[in-house]
Amino acid sequence: MKKIAILYGTSGGNTESIAERIQELFDGEADIFDVSSVSIDEVQPYKYLILGASTTGMGDLQDDWDSFLPTFSSKMDFTDKTVAIFGLGDSASFSSSFAESIFVLHDELNSKVKIVGEIPDEGYTYDDSSAVVDGKWLGLALDEDNEYDETEERLEKWVEQLKEEFV
Ligand SMILES: Cc1cc2nc3c(=O)[nH]c(=O)nc-3n(C[C@H](O)[C@H](O)[C@H](O)COP(=O)(O)O)c2cc1C
Repeated sequence: MKKIAILYGTSGGNTESIAERIQELFDGEADIFDVSSVSIDEVQPYKYLILGASTTGMGDLQDDWDSFLPTFSSKMDFTDKTVAIFGLGDSASFSSSFAESIFVLHDELNSKVKIVGEIPDEGYTYDDSSAVVDGKWLGLALDEDNEYDETEERLEKWVEQLKEEFV
């Protein structure tokens, strides 16, 4: 039984691709689930949960995650679990709500479960994001629309960090 589950919600496929890359970086030692069709029973056994969502509207959570989050938050038993969050956004077109999907997930789950995977707000260009608190992102922010050339390095660094924080 693998210990890591990657749960993603995507509208155009970007977040799914990132979820698959994260699985590779964990050497396949993680299972992947699309939140549009997952059940709590399927993900309950995993100790480490990596949640990925794109941002829509103006700082809103991706639609499938938006539907699933109330159930996930209220029905999961988070005892002894650890969560990490990654969020996608577009820092040019949505510069004042960049990758705020991270904030929405963090805000809902923070009081219920240990969340790791914060990163320094260095190397990003945007105006504002609720997902940055005291100079730190509450999870990994990625921008496949403008900063795709940064993605691989950001992912590799983050996964190395998670390998230390998932203990
Ligand atoms: C209607 C719409 C609204 C969006 N709103 C935001 C936003 O508020 N903030 C942001 O950072 N990105 C926003 N984006 C950009 C997406 O989050 C970004 O393109 C992401 O890579 C899409 O990932 P997906 O293909 O997994 O859904 C928006 C995109 C669309 C189409």
